[in-house]
Amino acid sequence: MSVDLNQKYGLNPAHSEVVAACQVVPPGAALDMGCSNGRNALYLAQQGFTVTAVDINPASLQQLQQIVDHEGISAVSPQLYDLNDASLGADYDFIACTVTLMFLDPLRVASVLSDMQNRTRAGGYNLIVCAVDSDDYPCPVPFPFTFVPGELSTAYEGWEQVKYNEDVGTMHNGARLRFATMLARKPNDG
Ligand SMILES: C[S@@+](CC[C@H](N)C(=O)[O-])C[C@H]1O[C@@H](n2cnc3c(N)ncnc32)[C@H](O)[C@@H]1O
Repeated sequence: MSVDLNQKYGLNPAHSEVVAACQVVPPGAALDMGCSNGRNALYLAQQGFTVTAVDINPASLQQLQQIVDHEGISAVSPQLYDLNDASLGADYDFIACTVTLMFLDPLRVASVLSDMQNRTRAGGYNLIVCAVDSDDYPCPVPFPFTFVPGELSTAYEGWEQVKYNEDVGTMHNGARLRFATMLARKPNDG
């Protein structure tokens, strides 16, 4: 697949942290959590991953399925799934969850993270990008969930945090807030 499928179908480019992670994470079985219409899933497939792409929005999944069908892509499987269930049914080498945890039930996020960790193969990777509510940059968007500073790093103690920061970023609407950005590798004996 040499054509840029995101460009071809009018999707945004893959999230910059997904692109960066692909410089580190070897191709394998990937899970795209909260895939929307598939900008990251399609990119990952083009990098050689086999991708399960889950979302709660049937319309987004349908759009991705149409692209997959039209292109005859066997490496992407769009599936309806409520992340709040925290009951992933398979193991993965790479789980990506970019700007999605904020929309989940705050009471379920700890279980979601724990399930992600359990469902990651030894030596595999998790990528998470999520809003942080901090004293210096209170989150200006009423997301159901935000991390407190340091919370995501603490949740991944024992993993190699290949990348971790809580830098200030700008949303599409101009709002400025901190985002926890983490690429972490599960120990080989994990
Ligand atoms: C801001 S979009 C991010 C999409 C994608 N990860 C990206 O980087 O472009 C958040 C996505 O999370 C999905 N979502 C929200 N709540 C969900 C849930 N409970 N289970 C599964 N997906 C959910 C939304 O439908 C939406 O597609």
